[in-house]
Amino acid sequence: MEQTQWYKNSVFYQIWPRSFRDGNGDGMGDLYGVLQKLDYIKSLGCDGIWFSPLYPSPGADCGYDISDYMNIDPQFGGMEAFKAVLEGAHSRGMKVIMDLVVNHTSDEHEWFQKSRRRIEPYTDYYIWRPGKKNGKLPNNWDSHFEGKAWTYDEVRKEYYMHLFAVKQPDLNMDNPLVREEVKKIMRFWLDMGVDGFREDVITFISKKKGLPSDHLLPVYKGIFMYNHGPRIHEFLTEFQNDVLLNYDCMTLAEAPMVTPGIALKYIREGKGQEFSMMIQNETMCADCFFQDYFPRKFSLRRLKKAFRNWQEKLDGKGWNMLFLENHDHLRIISRYGNPEYREASGKMLAAMYLFQKGTPFVYQGQEIGMVNWHPGDPEMYEDVATRYYYAHHNQKASPRARLHKLWRCSRDSSRTLMQWDATANGGFTTGKPWFYVNDNYKEINVARQDGDRDSILNFYRLAIGLRKRLSCVRWGKYREYSKGSGWLYQYSMQDDRQRILVVCSFSDQTKKYKAPDGFYLDTGKLLLCNYSDPDPAVLKPYETRVYLW
Ligand code: NOJ
Repeated sequence: MEQTQWYKNSVFYQIWPRSFRDGNGDGMGDLYGVLQKLDYIKSLGCDGIWFSPLYPSPGADCGYDISDYMNIDPQFGGMEAFKAVLEGAHSRGMKVIMDLVVNHTSDEHEWFQKSRRRIEPYTDYYIWRPGKKNGKLPNNWDSHFEGKAWTYDEVRKEYYMHLFAVKQPDLNMDNPLVREEVKKIMRFWLDMGVDGFREDVITFISKKKGLPSDHLLPVYKGIFMYNHGPRIHEFLTEFQNDVLLNYDCMTLAEAPMVTPGIALKYIREGKGQEFSMMIQNETMCADCFFQDYFPRKFSLRRLKKAFRNWQEKLDGKGWNMLFLENHDHLRIISRYGNPEYREASGKMLAAMYLFQKGTPFVYQGQEIGMVNWHPGDPEMYEDVATRYYYAHHNQKASPRARLHKLWRCSRDSSRTLMQWDATANGGFTTGKPWFYVNDNYKEINVARQDGDRDSILNFYRLAIGLRKRLSCVRWGKYREYSKGSGWLYQYSMQDDRQRILVVCSFSDQTKKYKAPDGFYLDTGKLLLCNYSDPDPAVLKPYETRVYLW
């Protein structure tokens, strides 16, 4: 089938189902709640939805531990509710993509239960190894969430590998039977009408032969032994040829530590392309190393360099995925913006990424400028990685310092309840919610911003609408100015019909401003600004402007 690349014209909204909207009053976000909010998502200008996992799951990693791939968890409303949402989305012109999590399953999945008992054909569905004679683990790899990557199973009397939580055993993708299962899952959802997949840590699925130990890093030991592993392209090509190329679908690959050069091995357009787009992490590292647990001071130069790198190096060769938030990262205003200038900096950050080339994703709550959560008690955290971190790291620090570290690092900050209105629990549920709402919900919520022309929400609507009308954003060339500045980010997008200039101040001070050479502001049309009285020669704190020629 010919693939139409419809995703290049799309803007996606990411739903993390547990915290989006509870439609039946049991305290858990669900698909009935999503159904109520499809018009809201559409009103943003979004025409695609990415669902974080909806499948049955024990919930050890909030759904990323799947126990049945071809079903919808009853707590989200089951298959009937999903089909209603799929139809509701399609009838509004919105695509739907599912999270495909096949690096690992839940340990409660039937395959694992049979594998640990050596019941055929499941015996080799997972990565099992005996321990070493001296009582040591099969190798020195770390898991990302809970200590070492191996846990001993008393039933099988062997260790199994888990690159994430103990309850997330890794599948053995070298086994052709496992690959057949993956293809079956893909076909199941695509045949139902789903429009593609976001593929969870998909670059981890091929492990180096012999599973050798690795001493290169102090943490995440082993990552170079399984990220972009030896058979990765072979597996992905098989999925493409046997399944994906038969559908007009898109694939979005999560790829930790990927560079544009490596990404192009997967997403270079033309024959042999393995994914439509990749989720890179470089633009999420302007204030941390690798990920949020290793913070460093925010650097605008680092952020600009990362965007430049991806805009320039993929240009004409591969397609970018653009994002500022998701369920794995803290809220962007609290990171790259400034909560004291929440509105101005939230709007500036929106303009900064929405006018770049690629397919933008907006994460639930980002569009109303939700900020980080600061609970008073470490016990309030739910995330498996956060809980492990708290129990095992930083123990000598004061209780206050330990709590503050979680405020700065835990992905639970972006998993608090969506703030719909000023009623109890932010209007998320009429029941007892499964998780917390940020204390600021009376001030920051959808209802309050919906009718306010100057709200962050309406700024998103405006910016997304503009983006859709500007050919240069989708097809033009990116060029950056004042690269060395530590407070100013400005770039242009240009095609043969038009040119825009996007100006973003990252300063909390009023600054003098002069447009780059060749841009005459008096002849340009000011399309967007986050202040009502812009002065061409000055930028107010966190001011942003988009000009068109
Ligand atoms: C990446 C997902 O985005 C994250 O939420 C999850 O915990 C891990 N992969 C493991 O599946």
